[in-house]
Amino acid sequence: MGAGASLCANLVSAPNRLWRRRERKGSGDTYTAAIIGAGFISAKRHLPAWLRLRRDVRVAAVCDLDLDRAEAVSREFGVPSAYDDVRQMLDMERLDFVDVCTPPSAHADIAAAALKAGAHVLVEKPLAATVEECERIIEAERESRGRVWAAHTELFHPCVVEARKRVERGEVGDLTGMRIFYSTPVTLMTADPSHFANRLPGGVIGETSPHVAYLAGAFIGTIRDVWARGRKFLSEYTWSPFEDYRLELTGSRATCSAALTYTSKHSAFLLELWGTEGLIKIDMQSKILAAYDRVSQSPWGIGVSSLREAAQIASGALANGFGYLAGRFRNIHDRLIREFVERSVNGLPPSVTAGDGLETVRVMSVISEQLQSQASPAQSGVRMGAA
Ligand SMILES: NC(=O)c1ccc[n+]([C@@H]2O[C@H](COP(=O)([O-])OP(=O)(O)OC[C@H]3O[C@@H](n4cnc5c(N)ncnc54)[C@H](O)[C@@H]3O)[C@@H](O)[C@H]2O)c1
Repeated sequence: MGAGASLCANLVSAPNRLWRRRERKGSGDTYTAAIIGAGFISAKRHLPAWLRLRRDVRVAAVCDLDLDRAEAVSREFGVPSAYDDVRQMLDMERLDFVDVCTPPSAHADIAAAALKAGAHVLVEKPLAATVEECERIIEAERESRGRVWAAHTELFHPCVVEARKRVERGEVGDLTGMRIFYSTPVTLMTADPSHFANRLPGGVIGETSPHVAYLAGAFIGTIRDVWARGRKFLSEYTWSPFEDYRLELTGSRATCSAALTYTSKHSAFLLELWGTEGLIKIDMQSKILAAYDRVSQSPWGIGVSSLREAAQIASGALANGFGYLAGRFRNIHDRLIREFVERSVNGLPPSVTAGDGLETVRVMSVISEQLQSQASPAQSGVRMGAA
């Protein structure tokens, strides 16, 4: 593996660029956007990202089935209008962009209506709840002048962008494998029976597995074979079928194993990629990428390799810390939403298409089918050595 710089250019944002050409507005005019869904991801990530584009895009409206919530969020972010009905909002506002932040089961209807109203549409992951709903979105896109983007946010993560470049350049040799470890704190979804993720087929993995499926696909190629198993650990959460999941995804290029746990109070998101010449480790939350290099198994060789890895982690953490303090922090939703707007107004195709969203939902649906067909949560594997 090349001994190149250890950290991805992660927290350091690109200089503020404005898009080059206006699609249909005169210069000086602003575009208009609306956000549908005023829950967690909308208030924490999407609205702040849209407001950072305020010189060029005006957020005209927020819509949520819960009008109190829509009004509270519109007050908090200074958005002029709040609605509780998507169609009414689409009739009243002239929108260039619609950003869909509702639970997945509502995505297809809303995306189709927004496309019909002439907007470009960004849809939070997963693109829709089922393959058929994704196909409905693709059909609606074909009949409209708008384009659909699937919000596969982690593909905009600077360490993922950097790792894809390194793999492309052959720095790990021929890619042969990938591993993903995801720990979501139990309090975030599992412990809350009213959280929509607890009603997804197969349980809360339905909320996290889109990230696993599209990230794996970006490295291992088109996913052709899926194996999924769940295991129940926390009996107090009677509504949750499983809190620990294992996946094996076989791609056209390599294989990915994933472990997703919802049993801990800790959060973690780790990726490893390896090939014939090297190994890359990424801590997605710390935004640190380290090239792991251990060809010698002597105590000296192992010591040197440990120090090299530690140095990469330390320099990455320092660079990230300074970048954050210097106000250069950009989260992945900022990057995604800026690119969505820039490419849309320049008439360029989406970086993540509705077809990509469909592929992810296809993988997810096989995962949830396998989990649902597991005889019972207690019988989550083949018994070895039984008489
Ligand atoms: N990219 C990420 O890291 C990430 C993280 C969390 C959630 N998400 C995704 O974002 C989406 C929303 O998740 P959340 O955690 O914000 O959910 P949430 O439950 O906090 O918020 C969803 C909001 O949508 C509203 N809503 C539901 N149906 C609606 C409809 N038909 N019209 C208008 N409003 C409607 C609800 O009232 C609620 O306020 C999901 O697709 C989820 O998978 C992505």
